[in-house]
Amino acid sequence: MAKTGLHAIENASLDELQALQLARMQWSLAHAYEGNPGYRAKFDAAGVHPGDLKCLADLSRFPFTTKADLREAYPFGFFAVPQAHLARIHASSGTTGKPTVVGYTREDIETWTQLVARSIYAAGGRAGMKVHVAYGYGLFTGGLGAHYGAEALGCTVIPVSGGQTERQVQLINDFCPEIIMVTPSYMLAISDEFHRQGLDPRASSLKIGIFGAEPWTESIRTEIQKAFAIDAVDIYGLSEVIGPGVASECVETKDGPTIWEDHFYPEIIDPLTGEVLPDGSEGELVFTSLTKQAMPVIRYRTRDLTTLLPGTARTMRRMAKITGRSDDMMIIRGVNVFPSQIEEHVVACASLAPHYQIELTRPKRLDQIKLIVESREGASAQTYEREGAHLCERIKTLIGISVELEIRSPGALPRSQGKAVHVFDRRPKHS
Ligand code: DLL
Repeated sequence: MAKTGLHAIENASLDELQALQLARMQWSLAHAYEGNPGYRAKFDAAGVHPGDLKCLADLSRFPFTTKADLREAYPFGFFAVPQAHLARIHASSGTTGKPTVVGYTREDIETWTQLVARSIYAAGGRAGMKVHVAYGYGLFTGGLGAHYGAEALGCTVIPVSGGQTERQVQLINDFCPEIIMVTPSYMLAISDEFHRQGLDPRASSLKIGIFGAEPWTESIRTEIQKAFAIDAVDIYGLSEVIGPGVASECVETKDGPTIWEDHFYPEIIDPLTGEVLPDGSEGELVFTSLTKQAMPVIRYRTRDLTTLLPGTARTMRRMAKITGRSDDMMIIRGVNVFPSQIEEHVVACASLAPHYQIELTRPKRLDQIKLIVESREGASAQTYEREGAHLCERIKTLIGISVELEIRSPGALPRSQGKAVHVFDRRPKHS
């Protein structure tokens, strides 16, 4: 097969890939068991031993790991190597309580770096290109993860980090990067800032955008590609598994991130029963790391909902765009709704901007949902009011909920500088 990826394994035969996965999985289970007392206790309690894994399907006999397990072990209880072997620590700030702490050996950093380099290559990035990194630097894995990968590919890195939107635009104009790595919601804010400065984003030097860290829909892809005349591809990852670059989309197909399965083994489970579902079914994504040293994760429940799909541009399987996280799901008068379902409809309205907030309240013991959107610059009140009324009708018919719509003037909603927060649940907690 023609070599299309950065690394030969991307186009290996399925047999070769699965043989590698099995050998690595056996190593990873043994490493977790021997290196970490928490894993040893969990495996013992479940009556399984790393030696029981004879084929990939045997993985389903091993216990899951959850975010609560990681929190309980705060800060360093999940590591499987002595602390002195750690080269770096990152942390992911949860919405509540203590952050989840993750660690890397020098080899783990090298693995991660290579996977981000592979991801940028798959997006069409090549040595010599300039990469503007607007993911946050610091304990968040986005900035440094992107940075190391871009550098390893031979790109020139511009480590801007998030925030100061005016300066983001200025640096794009002055330094002329071909690639930008940023959250999709912040890219929309950067687009607005181009227009505010009287500049046409389509005339910028950017050719490729590598967007992730939050769910985004196909409509937002279309919106960004039109606004900037770029290829917009999806990069997925989570700190617990390694950071950005667990999976990434190939520009030639743009059909969902390819999971870098030589390092992370995916499963889809029924979130309620924990049962493993066949490829093609929607459920919760679970990962087992195959090579990580400092913090192996065995059957880590991501809470991200998606579907595993066969490989297209690469041998490895793809994941469909994340529909939402099990903890993002809103239950409104008994109807399960994800913000992404509402987003699709908002973005389809030409006179409304792709920024929105969802506010949930419960006056008189009944859930109410208010959707706050912005009109687009230049749209007439008559047009956006008519489109707004249609939007409410479509949400009612297709999703099954009645929303109250508030249309604000352009620029009225706060813009994210990293991961966007769309939902404000102001319902009383226990009623
Ligand atoms: O967001 C790592 C990352 C940085 C990925 C930059 C991509 C780009 P965490 O802060 O631990 O790590 O958040 C992980 O973010 O479980 C998903 O719910 C969500 N997420 C990440 N990428 C995507 C994506 C980073 N492409 C959590 N699509 C994950 C949808 C995503 N959701």
